[in-house]
Amino acid sequence: MSEVVCVTGASGCIGSWVVHLLLLRGYTVHATVQNLKNEKEINHLESLEGAKERLRLFQMDLLDYESIVAAISGCAGVFHLASPNNVDEVQDPQKELLDPAVKGTVNVLTAAKEIGVGRVVVTSSISAIMPSPNWPADKVKNEECWTDEEYCRQNGLWYTLSKTLAEKAAWEFAKEKGLDVVVVNPGTALGPFFCPTINASMLMFLRLLQGCADPYENLFMGCAHFKNVALAHILVYENKSARGRHLCVEAITHYGDFASKVAELYPEYNVPRFPRDTQPGLLRAKNAAKKLIDLGLEFIPMEQIIKDSVDCLKSKGFIS
Ligand SMILES: NC(=O)c1ccc[n+]([C@@H]2O[C@H](COP(=O)([O-])OP(=O)(O)OC[C@H]3O[C@@H](n4cnc5c(N)ncnc54)[C@H](OP(=O)(O)O)[C@@H]3O)[C@@H](O)[C@H]2O)c1
Repeated sequence: MSEVVCVTGASGCIGSWVVHLLLLRGYTVHATVQNLKNEKEINHLESLEGAKERLRLFQMDLLDYESIVAAISGCAGVFHLASPNNVDEVQDPQKELLDPAVKGTVNVLTAAKEIGVGRVVVTSSISAIMPSPNWPADKVKNEECWTDEEYCRQNGLWYTLSKTLAEKAAWEFAKEKGLDVVVVNPGTALGPFFCPTINASMLMFLRLLQGCADPYENLFMGCAHFKNVALAHILVYENKSARGRHLCVEAITHYGDFASKVAELYPEYNVPRFPRDTQPGLLRAKNAAKKLIDLGLEFIPMEQIIKDSVDCLKSKGFIS
């Protein structure tokens, strides 16, 4: 019988990639969506290879504990991806971002502990690593680096704060209750996606192609292909020696490096020019995701990520 795992936020861009790779590897997947009646959340999951035989869908709300218990029951592992992914301005940060991210994570971990799940993979972000203005200027940022909460509050970086507090809550829970938790910290996730709705990171890329000159000073540390981000989750789940946080970027780069590569590959789009350093103080580094590379992950390079993203946006009609 195949191992049963739960993926929260399965309808999303990264979530559906995780489900796809898990199904291909023979797992049975409990996939959570917010609304089972919304075809836009479920059709792309139901058409994945292996879905007919080994996919079960659950309606789940991060603040409804019983809905989480129902989805996780019978599972040996959990991949917790569900979190509001909104980097634009919000009306009520507590309600729209902080509560679902932090209370939602604690709810998922509490249910996992109660049910006796073996390991929980929590999707954090580079947003829990930077902005970190007090990190030594001559040291490449790594998994030891944490986002400065006060800086986030002062600058209204609520998504960033939500990911930082959610990851901290996960580590605290793991330590106090003795639950096996591992974390993936992806950079800007890009590439082809299965879901019909565009997520925040692909929207950022689409806006760049349309001429948006925002340098995402506090939000960019490098990018990663959706396929690599999803595989990172599975590698840290399957390798029981994997511990702690795992930075997941093809390299640490500035947004300006990324934008100039896009402009070079696609001169026909209106990509703005940026100064050399769009992320002041961020040291560039190849092979920065050393822990994942050591687990066998081969990162798809930036150029291919850009090409796959453009092809996908074209095929879905977002650009011509
Ligand atoms: N994209 C990136 O570049 C990036 C980088 C680093 C980390 N991450 C993290 O990766 C995860 C997935 O991101 P994504 O880019 O795939 O975003 P996405 O496409 O917007 O997916 C987010 C998922 O979370 C679900 N969700 C949101 N609020 C929920 C709630 N209150 N209750 C239950 N489910 C809820 C969404 O359900 P619906 O579909 O029903 O709305 C969706 O399935 C998030 O934790 C995000 O912070 C993303």
